Amino acid sequence: MINGGRPLCGQVEIPCSKNAYLPILAGCILCDGKIVLHKCPRFSDIDAMLRVLETLGTVVVKQNDDLYIDCTKIKFSYIPSELTKIIRSSIFTLGALLGRLRRAKIAYPGGCDIGVRPIDLHLKGLRALGIKVEERHGYISCESTKFCAGSVDLDYPSVGATENLMMVAVLSSGVTTIRNPAREPEIVDLQDFLNSMGAKISGAGTNEIVIQGVDKLHSTEYTPMRDRIVAGTLLVACAMTGGEVTLTHCNPEHFLPIVNKLVKSSCKIEANNDNICISSDGCLQSFGELETGPYPAFPTDMQTQMLTMSTICKGSTLVTENVFESRFRVVPELSKMGADIVVQGRTAFVRGVDRLLGATVYAHDLRGGAGLVLAGLCAVGYTTVYDVWHIDRGYEQLDQTLASLGADIHRLD
Ligand code: EPZ
Repeated sequence: MINGGRPLCGQVEIPCSKNAYLPILAGCILCDGKIVLHKCPRFSDIDAMLRVLETLGTVVVKQNDDLYIDCTKIKFSYIPSELTKIIRSSIFTLGALLGRLRRAKIAYPGGCDIGVRPIDLHLKGLRALGIKVEERHGYISCESTKFCAGSVDLDYPSVGATENLMMVAVLSSGVTTIRNPAREPEIVDLQDFLNSMGAKISGAGTNEIVIQGVDKLHSTEYTPMRDRIVAGTLLVACAMTGGEVTLTHCNPEHFLPIVNKLVKSSCKIEANNDNICISSDGCLQSFGELETGPYPAFPTDMQTQMLTMSTICKGSTLVTENVFESRFRVVPELSKMGADIVVQGRTAFVRGVDRLLGATVYAHDLRGGAGLVLAGLCAVGYTTVYDVWHIDRGYEQLDQTLASLGADIHRLD
C-alpha cells in the first residue's frame, strides 16, 4: 500500500547482485572444498538456489549474511522439474555439474512471465565442446569427458549460456574459447570468483573468453559485486518522486546508460568510484527513446522502470524491448493509473501525463512489479500493488528501503 507524493531523501547501501550471486552459487559445485560467500542478499531467488544446491548434496550454513558452503560431497547430478520449476536459474547448475561430475540430467527450466526463455544456445554450445546431449520427455541428459574443450561461437550473447559454458570448461584438460559471449559485469564477476578458486579464465567482459582447464579448484572466500539493477531502480524512484538520494557501495560504471537517460531527463547526478548521488525536482523531460540490448547496451532489466518514469515525463518517449518478448505486461496496470501508453510489437509509445492516479494494480513479473511500486510513489492518492512476491524475488525488502527514504509505503500481510 503506497500513499504517493512524498519526495525520497537519504542514503542506501546497495546489496550484492542477484544476477552475480546466482551463477556464483552454481559455480560452488565445481569446488570439492569449502567456500565462504559474504553479504548474501535476502531474497527468494537466492533461497531457492540454496535449496537446489542442498538437494544436490552441498551443505550450506548461513551466519548473518555470510554463507558457508561445503561442496566436498556433491551426491547427485539430477535436477528434477520440481526444482527447475521453483527457479529458472537452476539451469546454471548444468555446466557446473558437467564440469565436476561429467554428467547431468536436468528438467527443462521452462518459461516465465517475460518470455519463453529457451536454452537452445546452452545446448548448442555444449555440443560444440563434444558433450553428448540428449533431450527426451522434457529432460536433458548430458555426458562430458575431461577432454570437453574447443571453441564455441554464440549466435546471441546469452548471459546464461556464457556462464554455463565457462563453468563446464573450468575442470577440463584443454583450452576452451567462447566467442560472442555476454559481456555483462556479472560475467566478469563469475570469472573473478572462479579464478579465486584456481581457475584460469581470461577475457570476460570482452568479445572472447578463454578458459584454460585445470585439475581441481581450491577453497575460497568471496564477496560478489553489488546489484546495478537495484541501484538503477532506486535512482529512477528518486527521479520520479523528487528529492535527493545517495547510493553507496555501487559502481556507477556498471549503469552508465541509466545515468545518461536520467541526466537527459533533467536529474542532477554526481558519481565517484563507489557511490552515486541523484537529486531531482520531480519535473522530468522525456529522455526521447530507449532500446534494450546485450551489455553495454541499455539493460532489459531496467526497461520497465524507465518506461514507468516516461509516463510522467514531459513529451513523448519511445521504449523498445529487444531482449525478451513479453516485457510490457506492466502496461495495462500503468494504464489503470492514467498512463498513456500504446504498445506495437516491441515498441511502447508513451505520451507524458501531468500525474498518475493511485489505483489497485497487479505485479506480473519482477521488474514490472518494481515499476508499479515506482508509479505508486509519485501517484496522487493510494496505490495497492498485489502479488508482490514477484518483487521479493529480486529486491530485499524494497518497501522497507523506500520507507527509510521517506516513502509512505507499507506491506499488507
Ligand atoms: C539473465 O537471464 C538474467 N538472469 C536476466 O535477469 C537478464 O534479463 C538477462 O540475463 C539478460 O541480461 C540471471 O542472470 C539470473 P539470456 P538469461 O540468456 O541468462 C534468448 C532479472 O530480471 N535466448 O541472456 O536467461 C532469450 O530468450 C532477470 O533479473 C535464446 O534464445 O538471459 C532472451 O530473448 C530477467 N536461447 C535472450 O536470449 C538460449 O539458449 C537473452 O537471454 C538462451 C537465451
